[in-house]
Formats: sequence, structure tokens, C-alpha cells
Amino acid sequence: MLMGNNVFLRGLVLDDVNELFNYWNNKDFMNYSGRINPYSKEELINWIQATWKEREEKKAFTFAIIKINDKVIIGTIRLKIVNIISRRADISIGIFNPIFRDKGLGTESLKLLIDFAFNTMNFLSLELKVFTKNKRAVSCYEKLGFKKVGVRRKADFVDGEYLDDLVMDLLIEEWKNDK
Ligand SMILES: CC(C)(COP(=O)(O)OP(=O)(O)OC[C@H]1O[C@@H](n2cnc3c(N)ncnc32)[C@H](O)[C@@H]1OP(=O)(O)O)[C@@H](O)C(=O)NCCC(=O)NCCS
Repeated sequence: MLMGNNVFLRGLVLDDVNELFNYWNNKDFMNYSGRINPYSKEELINWIQATWKEREEKKAFTFAIIKINDKVIIGTIRLKIVNIISRRADISIGIFNPIFRDKGLGTESLKLLIDFAFNTMNFLSLELKVFTKNKRAVSCYEKLGFKKVGVRRKADFVDGEYLDDLVMDLLIEEWKNDK
């Protein structure tokens, strides 16, 4: 478990399935990731179980984001190995309950995960992909020190339009946990 001031991160449990089912199948939320098909409960249960195996094998670390005061799951966050030799990993986050967005909780959750990635797991570089039009997410990542690597133009087709993908990265030497 990774403990912050307003949120903590814990592994997913099967009881999370109903919240994931309700929020991940929301069209607005699906558009942030570009997912087209809704999840069935069975798929989500399989996915939760797969996160346990990935964690055991140290291939990926997926957490539920829990708001401390309300004790509710508000999203998920994930760290996934890209290259173990160069110690590079990918991160992704989704605050799926919109009432908890724009309150600093995504930034706080990312700080916890980045700290875990660099200081516990000894990764050296983190990367992520975000649609250029997702200004809030880009601003959040820039605030944490992520730099723009480049743009894959018209890389995804989501909800009737072609979207550009922005790739961003953050090196350990650029990370100071005083942001
Ligand atoms: C992206 C996400 C993780 C950010 O977390 P959050 O808790 O909502 O964001 P925070 O409050 O920590 O920070 C957002 C920052 O973006 C800024 N922001 C918000 N809307 C903005 C906009 N349209 N343009 C520019 N900046 C914007 C906020 O002002 C804030 O900066 P500040 O702290 O300097 O004021 C969260 O909104 C989310 O999960 N959204 C839905 C799914 C998603 O987009 N996932 C990422 C896919 S790559």
C-alpha cells in the first residue's frame, strides 16, 4: 500500500468489480483511453486476477486509488515494465469518478506511483501516452516534470475523430519529490 495525504494506493480486489464496471463503461471515460468495447463483469474479474499475477511476476503493478476520507475507489493507476534491462516503465492513470477530478488527487496519486517506481523499484525512466487534446492530463504530467518526446499524428480513431498521441517521459534525475 502506498499512503498519501488524501489518497492511498492499494492492490485491486474482486469487490472493486462493480465500481470498475459502472465507471469504465461510461462513454466519456472510455474516450480518454480510446477503448471502444464495454467490459463485461467477467472480463473485469479476469483482469483483476491478471493484475495479481503480473504483480507476483513483477511485470506490472496496478493499484486502486482510494480517497482516504470517503473510503471509496476513485480510479486506478498502473506501472508496467517496458524494458527491464534499461529499467524503463510505462505509467497510466484514470480517475474514473468525475467528481474527484481537478482536485489534485491525480497529481498526488502519480507522485506516489513515481516515487515507488524510482525509489522502490529502481526504474530509471518512465513514459506515458496521452491524447494531445486531453489538456488536463498533459498539464498534470508537465507539472510533475514529464517532458514531451513527440507526437504520433492521427494515431487513434476515437468517437468519430482521429486523435494525435503525445508521448512523454520522465528521467529519475529529473524527479524531485518536492513538487
Ligand atoms: C488526468 C487526471 C489523472 C488528472 O488528475 P486530476 O486529479 O483530475 O488533476 P489534478 O487536479 O491533479 O491536476 C490537473 C491540472 O490540470 C489543470 N487543468 C485542468 N483542466 C485543464 C485544461 N483544460 N487545460 C489546461 N490545464 C487544465 C488544473 O488546473 C490542474 O493544474 P493546477 O494544479 O496547476 O491547477 C484525471 O483528470 C483523469 O483521470 N481524467 C480522466 C481519465 C484521463 O484523462 N486519464 C489520463 C489518460 S492519459
